[in-house]
Amino acid sequence: MKINLSFEAKQSGTELHIFSCFNKVQESKTTKKLDAKTTKKTDKVLSHSHWSAELAESFEHSVASKHYKAECGEMFSITMLSGATALIVGLGDKTKLTKEIVRRQIATTYKAVSGKYEDATIHIDGFLVKGHAEETISAMVESLHMVSYAFDRHLAVKKKAKLQSITLATNEKKTQAKKFEAAINEAHAMGECIKVARDFVNEAPNILNSETYAKEIEKDVKNLKHVKIKVLGKAELKKEKMGMFLSVNAGSAFEPRLVHLTYTPPKATAKTKHIALVGKGLTFDTGGYSLKPGASMMNMKFDMAGSATVYAAFRAAALLQLPVKISCYLGITDNAVNHLATMPDSIVTARNGKTVEILNTDAEGRLVLGDVVNYACDNKPDALIDCATLTGAVLVALGSEVCGLFSNNQKLADSLLKSAKNADEYMWQLPIIDEHKNDMKALVADLKNIGSNGFGGSAKGAAFIEYFVEPEIAWAHLDIAGIGDSQGHLSYCPAKGGSGLIIRTLVDYLKNV
Ligand code: BES
Ligand code: MN
Ligand code: ZN
Repeated sequence: MKINLSFEAKQSGTELHIFSCFNKVQESKTTKKLDAKTTKKTDKVLSHSHWSAELAESFEHSVASKHYKAECGEMFSITMLSGATALIVGLGDKTKLTKEIVRRQIATTYKAVSGKYEDATIHIDGFLVKGHAEETISAMVESLHMVSYAFDRHLAVKKKAKLQSITLATNEKKTQAKKFEAAINEAHAMGECIKVARDFVNEAPNILNSETYAKEIEKDVKNLKHVKIKVLGKAELKKEKMGMFLSVNAGSAFEPRLVHLTYTPPKATAKTKHIALVGKGLTFDTGGYSLKPGASMMNMKFDMAGSATVYAAFRAAALLQLPVKISCYLGITDNAVNHLATMPDSIVTARNGKTVEILNTDAEGRLVLGDVVNYACDNKPDALIDCATLTGAVLVALGSEVCGLFSNNQKLADSLLKSAKNADEYMWQLPIIDEHKNDMKALVADLKNIGSNGFGGSAKGAAFIEYFVEPEIAWAHLDIAGIGDSQGHLSYCPAKGGSGLIIRTLVDYLKNV
């Protein structure tokens, strides 16, 4: 889809013109006269200072328009005097407008029109949140990328949207051009990276296995500047003594991969901050010998969403040339069963020397992450953030719409919560208490990989990982088991498949670190 910016609000070329409309509650008028016209407090009057004269006149002409209230999401389609179609998108109360409302309404609007029109002009001035023009423009463009995404590479007949060209038209002064264009370009980069992540998450596990996934990333980073890649295989993981990671891979037909990426900004100095990102990359999670029941196993191709999320954030940071050094580590394998697969009750030795009793082979993400976060600590990053589809329990605790956050450092947790707010993504902090950590201690080994009971499953998973983080390093763990896919409540996310969420939060964090 082509998106261009125009400082000519009078667009004659396109078939469709999209305008916004707000409403406000009319002040109530009290009158003593019985027959006098009274206006109830609930009456909503339309407010639309950004309409063209042509639209205002056409709207006045339309009899049906008097029923239009411009509630949020309420649309009104009208043929203008010129013959072009105008679609009016209700945004409700102007004083309550947020960029998330715009993001959602633009996606809903796209869905309503993308099958009918070849090109459209969005008259953006009526959509901009006061004082946040660039951010709103970015949100609109991101939303268009996100909503127009389809994972259709395996379909013989692809549903191609008719809508291929969108003009963002504004009456603002041309002096704004640079800022607006920068906002659009940034959103293009974000949209592209979100697509890359969704494509990885949605790809089938017989196609995307640990070896092919690492190769795809090697291929993809060739397009990035100032980025280095190192890929560790089974022999290297053995050398690194990553006994936990290797135990998960033991029953696999494919070699494990630890993809280690670094981005060093062009003007890096000794003061440049260094952030480590770690992602869980389970290309499929059968549960291993602690086999998942069929229904729970379905969709476990998405168990690499953590790795796709951190990779996409890393990729965006490199494209945007952010002034921060980033090391990104993807722990990639599947969790499969064969005669070599790890049996429950096995005891393995982690990279940091701790012994771990594997009581449940389905608690595999923490085994991979434990060794990888430990490896990431070697480079002494200023902060380390891991992202993983770690526990079903996070869905029980927070619902499928919220990302769980755990941390050993409140400053880092607060920064991430702030970034989630900036990105309009749902994130909630949960605790790791000493009791959770104690519950991960075993009788016959230093640690066990599951808690003594099913309670607080997400916190105990996080508590386990913390045993492998060097204590002086600020660390945060993001459990995206819920938010990583199928976010049908958001108009810009697919109801089924990778959501591409949390990438925006991470990039916001990397921008502000
Ligand atoms: N990949 C799963 C977590 C998961 C479950 C993500 C459901 C999305 C939906 C993880 O590897 C897992 O199996 N976790 C177990 C942990 C348990 C054995 C302690 C779980 O959540 O049941
Ligand atoms: Mn599992
Ligand atoms: Zn898993």
